[in-house]
Amino acid sequence: MTERRVGRWAGVSLLVVMLAMAFSAPGFAAKTPGNTKAGKKVFTQFCGSCHTLKDAKTVGTVGPNLDKGKRTYAKVVTIVTKGKGSMTSFKFLGKKKIQDVAAYVVKKKV
Ligand code: HEC
Repeated sequence: MTERRVGRWAGVSLLVVMLAMAFSAPGFAAKTPGNTKAGKKVFTQFCGSCHTLKDAKTVGTVGPNLDKGKRTYAKVVTIVTKGKGSMTSFKFLGKKKIQDVAAYVVKKKV
C-alpha cells in the first residue's frame, strides 16, 4: 500500500468519527422538531388503532409494532405524510402534527 492510500483511509475514518460525533451531540435534537407530548395525543387518536406502542398504551396489530425496531425521524415523517402499503396518508394532520407524532414515534416516550 502506498502512503497516499493510507492517508486517504485515515481521512475517511476521521470523517466518519466526526459525523458520529455531530449526530450524538445535543444539538442533534434540534433536528427533530416536534413536540412529543402533543405527538402522543395524535398517536393515541390516529395511529393506535393499528399500531402497538407501549408508552401510548395502544395495542393495534394492523401495522407493525412500533416498540420494535428503529426508524429515523425523517422516515416516519415521510410514511405518515405519504402513507405506505395499506397505511393511508395522514397528510390532513398538517405539518406540525406530523412532526409532533414523528418525534414521539422516534423517541417512544414523552
Ligand atoms: C389503518 C391502519 C393504520 C393506521 C391508522 C396507521 N398505520 Fe402506520 N402502518 C400501517 C401498516 C399496515 C403499515 C405497514 C405498511 C407496509 O410496510 O406496507 C404501517 C407502517 C407504519 C410505519 C413503518 C413501520 C416500519 O417499521 O416499517 C410507521 C413508522 C407508521 N406506520 C406510523 C404510523 C403513525 C405515526 C400513524 C398515525 C399518524 C399510523 N402509522 C397510522 C397501518 C396503519
